[in-house]
Amino acid sequence: MPAYAILGAQWGDEGKGKIIDYLSRRADIVARFSGGNNAGHTVINDLGDFSLHLVPCGIFSDGVMNVIGNGVVVDPDVLIEEMETLKQAGIDVSRSLMVSERAHLIMPYHVMLDTLAESERGDFAIGTTGKGIGPAYSDKTSRTGIRAADLLDLEGLRHRLEEVLPFVNRVLTKVYEVDSVSIDYILDKSRMWKDFLGPLIKPVGRYVNEVLDSGGTVVLEGAQGILLDLDHGTYPFVTSSSPTIGGASTGLAIQPKQITNVLGIFKAYNTRVGSGPFPTELFDDVGEGIRTIAKEFGTTTGRARRVGWFDGVLASYSNRINGYTSAVITRLDVLDHLDSLNICVGYKLDGDILDEPPGGVTALEKCLPVYETLDGWDVPTAGISNISELPTNARIYVDRLEELIGCPVDIISTGPHRDHTIMVRDILIS
Ligand code: GDP
Ligand code: IMO
Ligand code: MG
Repeated sequence: MPAYAILGAQWGDEGKGKIIDYLSRRADIVARFSGGNNAGHTVINDLGDFSLHLVPCGIFSDGVMNVIGNGVVVDPDVLIEEMETLKQAGIDVSRSLMVSERAHLIMPYHVMLDTLAESERGDFAIGTTGKGIGPAYSDKTSRTGIRAADLLDLEGLRHRLEEVLPFVNRVLTKVYEVDSVSIDYILDKSRMWKDFLGPLIKPVGRYVNEVLDSGGTVVLEGAQGILLDLDHGTYPFVTSSSPTIGGASTGLAIQPKQITNVLGIFKAYNTRVGSGPFPTELFDDVGEGIRTIAKEFGTTTGRARRVGWFDGVLASYSNRINGYTSAVITRLDVLDHLDSLNICVGYKLDGDILDEPPGGVTALEKCLPVYETLDGWDVPTAGISNISELPTNARIYVDRLEELIGCPVDIISTGPHRDHTIMVRDILIS
């Protein structure tokens, strides 16, 4: 019954998509457990280059069932469009995809409210992806959300909308002074969503459990990263879900004891999209060089990602929260051109040296990184798939990251393609 949780260990975009695609070849199920189409997971394999926002990254592997769990917020229009795009690329999605009946739906008014709230915040904007994520999760916790199961009962959905839409419309018209949304508009869309998605909406929690109980292998696909977690991230500059290990359990209705492997995916440096503290951020040519070489632009919004040195304080914190059984280092090749590299090993704050990030966002803003400098490597690592070919200084760099994270680095990624992967220790059940 192995279940592998694949978790973003920084601020998202660590390369989870690539690693999930790599691991899913030996899986029975790949299941997303949190977030929505704020995620952008890149997969590059022999079938092509893909950007997935809702469909799990196991979709390219034969015989794998892909599950969208109850913890995910689903924009039905986006899911349908993504399925169509995959179909056009020759990938048949409909028979290998399920959506939890308990997953909440992102409604058109959630997308409107996200954008309106961001412009209202002005200088304090979070820099959300504008996909309606915050408002959809807010409705979930306010108990005014619409779930996938509601699409299967359109009469019941009408009653539900009669209950929740008047308040939404008061906010739209009176607070933001924009047009209201009609029940008929939402019901017309829901009819179309039901025709397309209805056959995929299922009690997936039970299905995942049955596969695990019968000895199957499940890959739990995380989205975002721990530093964007609602509780453990750099609040309020976070997303509205739980990309951490706890979210893997609640977002799929599986028991914590069923999760046998917890993989923390770390970039060999740090990036962040949107606002919020970033102690090791680079504002110089070194940062610009990394951004250009690595094409650090958001998969979902196209925004330039902020770039910085690897932050060992946050990495160790990330491991303390999630308890990784393996760390995965991605994008090592991006650092091939550097003569020397800094790693943050502590924070200076008001005369003290900290080994954990402070919880307050203003205190974290004030933290100054304490750096250790390592030599670069002269032989490129790009595309290497055998550990024996890794240049000595690259090995020294990875070993230092391993010490700081506090768990073994079992996989190193040296390029975007599935094959550009070094399995340092075979953690896969065959
Ligand atoms: P995710 O959200 O965690 O799935 O990551 P994204 O797909 O948003 O961003 C990761 C980017 O890094 C994508 O463009 C990947 O193709 C790319 N990538 C992943 N691993 C590697 C690697 O080892 N080297 C390089 N050069 N690119 C990588
Ligand atoms: P993947 O799965 C990177 C960031 C946004 C913003 C904050 C809140 O590809 O790693 P939201 O729209 O969620 O309310 O935005 O979270 N963010 C991500 N950053 N990767 C992601 O997903 C992200 N999903 C959300 O940029 O700062
Ligand atoms: Mg991404």
